[in-house]
Amino acid sequence: MLEGIFESSTSVSLFGLFVALLVFFHFFISIFSSQERREPPGPRPLPLFGNLFQLNLKRLSQNLYDLSKTYGPVFQVSFGPKKVVVLAGHKIVKQALVNQAEQFASREITKAFYYINKEHGIILANGDSWKEMKHFARTTLKDFGMGRKTSEEIIIEESVNLIKEFEQFQGEAFDNSVALTYATSNVISALMFGKRFEYTDPFIKQMVERNQETIHLMGSASVQIYNFIPWLGPFLKNWTNLMKNMEDTKADIRKIIAELKKTLDPEMCRCFIDAFLIRKHNLEDSEVKDSHYRDENLLYSVINLFIAGTDTTATTLKWSLLYMAKFPHFQDRVQEELSRVVGSRQVRIEDRKNLPYTDAVIHESQRFANIVPMSLPHTTSKDVTLQGYFIRKGTAIFPLLTSVLYDESEWESPHNFNPSHFLDEEGKFIRRDAFMPFSAGRRACLGESLARMELFLFFASLLQHFCFTLPPGVSEDELDLKPVVGLTLAPKPQKLCAVGQL
Ligand code: HEM
Repeated sequence: MLEGIFESSTSVSLFGLFVALLVFFHFFISIFSSQERREPPGPRPLPLFGNLFQLNLKRLSQNLYDLSKTYGPVFQVSFGPKKVVVLAGHKIVKQALVNQAEQFASREITKAFYYINKEHGIILANGDSWKEMKHFARTTLKDFGMGRKTSEEIIIEESVNLIKEFEQFQGEAFDNSVALTYATSNVISALMFGKRFEYTDPFIKQMVERNQETIHLMGSASVQIYNFIPWLGPFLKNWTNLMKNMEDTKADIRKIIAELKKTLDPEMCRCFIDAFLIRKHNLEDSEVKDSHYRDENLLYSVINLFIAGTDTTATTLKWSLLYMAKFPHFQDRVQEELSRVVGSRQVRIEDRKNLPYTDAVIHESQRFANIVPMSLPHTTSKDVTLQGYFIRKGTAIFPLLTSVLYDESEWESPHNFNPSHFLDEEGKFIRRDAFMPFSAGRRACLGESLARMELFLFFASLLQHFCFTLPPGVSEDELDLKPVVGLTLAPKPQKLCAVGQL
């Protein structure tokens, strides 16, 4: 009997042990998997509206940067029902965009982006078409001189025209933003269409004004609202203006493409549009099916390169001249270096290695101006874990470039304009890993080398010829460096004097 009791108690305790193990196992797995699937933290969202009422859509990049101080380098916010994961700080942005490049390389195509671009072209496209168009644009622009002599010649020619334009004001205060944008726009025109425009040409005036407005409108709250409640579109003034701008731009570029088509000579490629058309014809001749070289891809690639390549570079130049007027002691040192190393001859790209201080001031201007503060939105192409947080495939990602360019653990004095960030103790130029104004990884800016060449040649040529000062009666403290917020951060319209150097 004892034996029976013993046997049954053994089987009960075995059963108990089994159940306990099962519970423990289940508990362990659920803890483990909940940790595996731990979502990034963030402010508590309201049903339907998410965090819309807590966010400052008019100053979103700064707002998100402030939130990163509470929630850490990976956090989420909800725009209405749409969750967005924000990446803050150099370490985590690099980890995602560079080390986990494939998972973070897709572009988030919001409703607004889709309506504007229909996934053609480069900036707002994904998949094989994006890959092919980006590769084609990069190699074609290189063949036309991106990173080589010919684009250097184009920029030098343009800087001569820019200097003439500035000279007309004879040291009187004027707003230089229009002329700077015409200059950078002409560099892209020369590469895209094979010609530049006089600064008095109504075409360039209209293109530049429209581009600037488009960039401003794309960063407006109306576009964010459209993304969540698209049927409101026709009632949102900024949205309808943006649509009109895009239609007018498309009409203008279509006209230029049609003119170039009429005189196309496959033996004599004049520009990007020619190169595209020649490739398209060659593929048609060899009966390649499903080629990406379609009319829409040409139209939108040209528009993309114009919009991405003109205002960004001009805005950076505007900031750099404002910094020179605000901090004249830095300007004095640039001019001393330029006159010692280059003298009065035309500055060239090969001089850059001998002009470390000038180069450092240009880099610091880009860092401090932080003109694309949230980069452009990405999306995850598969489920991914970052810093222990689970991020589902198709989640929108904002790589907060502000938080990289102002990262307190990377820069010695992030909130001051300080060219020493890019100089070693001997005054030699040093690269910094957290210098990421062009973003990083597979989606990084396609025009980086062209933009860097433009910034150097335009800035150095201007400083060889002029000293930039504030208008008489305006003190350095009165100069307002708060940006106008759009998709890019641009300076407020303000006048400077370009005083001729003897
Ligand atoms: C100072 C000047 C410039 C700055 C600061 C800048 C910055 C950027 C940034 C932050 C991005 C987004 C990258 C991302 O999604 O993570 C970008 C993308 C892009 N940029 Fe620039 N850019 C500049 C000039 C240019 C120029 C001159 C061109 C054209 C010749 C250009 C063409 C593009 C294109 C096509 C993309 C989209 C790349 C893609 O989606 O794969 N950019 N740029």
